[in-house]
Amino acid sequence: MTPGTVHLVGAGPGDPELITLRGLRLVREAEVIVHDRLGTEALLEFASAEAELIDAGKAPGRHGMSQEEISDLLVALARSGRRVVRLKGGDPFVFGRGGEEAIVLADAGIPFEVVPGVSSAVAAPAAACIPVTHRGIARTLTIASGHDDPASPAARARWAALAQVPGTLVLLMAMSNLAEIADALIAGGRPADEPAAAVQWGTTDRERRLTATLGTIAGACRDGDIGSPAVVVIGPVVAVGELLASAVNAAVGDDAPDDGRDHAQVPVQQDDVRRRPRA
Ligand SMILES: C[S@@+](CC[C@H](N)C(=O)[O-])C[C@H]1O[C@@H](n2cnc3c(N)ncnc32)[C@H](O)[C@@H]1O
Repeated sequence: MTPGTVHLVGAGPGDPELITLRGLRLVREAEVIVHDRLGTEALLEFASAEAELIDAGKAPGRHGMSQEEISDLLVALARSGRRVVRLKGGDPFVFGRGGEEAIVLADAGIPFEVVPGVSSAVAAPAAACIPVTHRGIARTLTIASGHDDPASPAARARWAALAQVPGTLVLLMAMSNLAEIADALIAGGRPADEPAAAVQWGTTDRERRLTATLGTIAGACRDGDIGSPAVVVIGPVVAVGELLASAVNAAVGDDAPDDGRDHAQVPVQQDDVRRRPRA
């Protein structure tokens, strides 16, 4: 690890074991770690006792540092000649604003390295047995932010366009706008009875999962008190996930403790999802 360099490290989705080996080594060697809240907490235990830990994240009722303040801090820390890790949840470049920080560092002439991370966009569904692509079922994967105001004309046009893209649609940061987004997707042509799932706190021991349809997912999440942070998956792969989850539950046996998860019924075409790859 070179002093004066900033390492933009992906922490993974929440389970600390899902950081990369390189990411963990850098966390251990860092003299200062500037970290987000989501997905990074458990990893800070691996930091050296002498390391300075700077929390740049937002918490309820408390404003985090602005993006500009974070970037300026990274530049100042690197110029002081310290070994700096910028630890971000998931992958730094998947809705993580890592690109913005990298640009500021580059402009300031600070050497930096990007260490990819396991993104919640695929890891939260996978840990809940939902494959975001599946041969014969979904050959296209779209990952979208649900953060923008769905009532704005630009957002409406975007959801109408996304409704026409076949395959799997994964939404991040969508929980507060989920009802409007689902309505816009249905208005744009996606079937209301298409399977949909929400995975909250995926890969952690707080994980909760709910399966419904595009037409019912927002209400089901509201009733089930499933909010942020969650990943929403829309598409036939959700039915594959149901099948795989039942297989896992059957393998564990009837004596398995109730996982507290709510598994609404979704029609599954078993012939489709079990289609064998061509030789
Ligand atoms: C600002 S984005 C950061 C995404 C991150 N860079 C990544 O690659 O996972 C935050 C959003 O990621 C999703 N998210 C992050 N961790 C999650 C987890 N453990 N389970 C479910 N969703 C998660 C949620 O949609 C949350 O609102």
